[in-house]
Amino acid sequence: TDTGCLSIIVLGASGDLAKKKTFPALFHLHCQGFIQSHNVHIFGYARSKMSDNDLRDRIHGYLTPCKGFEKTHKENLSKFLQLIKYISGPYDVDEGFVSLDKEICAYEMSKDTTGGPSRRLFYFALPPSVYPSVSKMIKSFCMTKSDVGGWTRIIVEKPFGRDLESAEELSTQIGQLFNESQIYRIDHYLGKELVQNLLVLRFGNRLFLPLWNYANIASVQIVFKEDFGTEGRGGYFDQYGIIRDILQNHLLQVLCLVAMEKPVSLNPEHIRDEKLKVLESMLPIIDEEVVIGQYEGYKDDSTIPKDSNTPTFATVVLRIHNERWDGVPFILKAGKSLNSKEAEIRVQFKDVPGDIFNASKKVGRNELVIRLQPSEAIYMKLTVKEPGLEMKTIQSELDLSYRQRYEDVVIPEAYERLILDTIHGDQQHFVRRDELKAAWEIFTPLLHKIDRKEIRSVSYKPGSRGPIEADKLAEMVGYVQTHGY
Ligand code: BG6
Repeated sequence: TDTGCLSIIVLGASGDLAKKKTFPALFHLHCQGFIQSHNVHIFGYARSKMSDNDLRDRIHGYLTPCKGFEKTHKENLSKFLQLIKYISGPYDVDEGFVSLDKEICAYEMSKDTTGGPSRRLFYFALPPSVYPSVSKMIKSFCMTKSDVGGWTRIIVEKPFGRDLESAEELSTQIGQLFNESQIYRIDHYLGKELVQNLLVLRFGNRLFLPLWNYANIASVQIVFKEDFGTEGRGGYFDQYGIIRDILQNHLLQVLCLVAMEKPVSLNPEHIRDEKLKVLESMLPIIDEEVVIGQYEGYKDDSTIPKDSNTPTFATVVLRIHNERWDGVPFILKAGKSLNSKEAEIRVQFKDVPGDIFNASKKVGRNELVIRLQPSEAIYMKLTVKEPGLEMKTIQSELDLSYRQRYEDVVIPEAYERLILDTIHGDQQHFVRRDELKAAWEIFTPLLHKIDRKEIRSVSYKPGSRGPIEADKLAEMVGYVQTHGY
């Protein structure tokens, strides 16, 4: 923003999310020239009593050098820290927010700003239990005072509820206070470079257009793996589990981008309309197409009940009932404490009809792999002739590895991009209320069955591929393991 001033208010400033994600993202934006002292100020707000310097000391260690700006790191760091002020107060008492508003107003009128309309961005790095009271406080005391050109926006993080009913209740409470255009529901997977590339890859290439359907695609897998457990977050995690933590939001959002029809334009509403249609076309999940697991040792954490059935792993098959995807299994798989850390999309094509080389069977099917992380890449597994005198087939790859191809390009962090989008008022990469509702509709019946222990988690060894039953399920619905995977 060139004219006017922007206040970024980090609520829950002393917490984990703020420390690890929000402030580092703001810092990197600062290094890249976006958040500068002449028109932006940052306010931390939380219950703990501490000074501005205490907060600065607390986050200091997490502000790693921004790639490409290593030389000026020290200078940037001290300038950035000076932008931050801290205000302490409770989340449900008027006085706290009255004094927060006073501080913001004082900044808006100070000589530090260039004048102009006031913009206020509230980042909820908070437990969702306080969302309703904090929203009410902001609405009562902290809205922008500028009628023209000013705005107030809020960024909220998941979990948005535990199931359809609680999510709808939360949406209604917040919806009574803010318009949809003021609410930015973050799903940080939508900020990842390769997730953003899906739209371009699918709709910017002639190559994929005729192939992207049930006639050619055998299955789609969307996989999230972490090689560590719930360390330190056991209490939170046990109340939610991997389906609410990863599948219902991150993987489902990715699925929407893989499966949706071409939007009318790049207008955020057009894109979100198409994503919504995918969610609304989903068939109910059936028990036979679900495997949930819990890694051995998960319950050693003293904050986790000994009879917990909470899954730390899940494979769930989703099916989209429309003309494009009839019969194609979308296999969502996520797990903690597995053998590696990665997230990827695998689009597996059907066998070649009338295959004279018998290659699909011998060397494997064509597969398009989009690796979201680590080492972003897009590669296509193809059958080629093995070089040499014999006519033998092998599988090889057309490979776009970002590290090699875009060596000097800095790939922005998801949170940086999403905060910047919020400042610019672009909601494309945020979840709309109706999408959220549809996402909960898909998973709520299954989640309730798991909560009632009608579906039980099977155990798996930490550091493994997860329960063997999950591989069997993927195979059963048509995924063929390729070599080297
Ligand atoms: C968060 C989940 O939303 O995403 C965490 O709550 C998970 O459990 C994290 O570890 C993974 O994010 P990323 O960007 O590291 O893949």
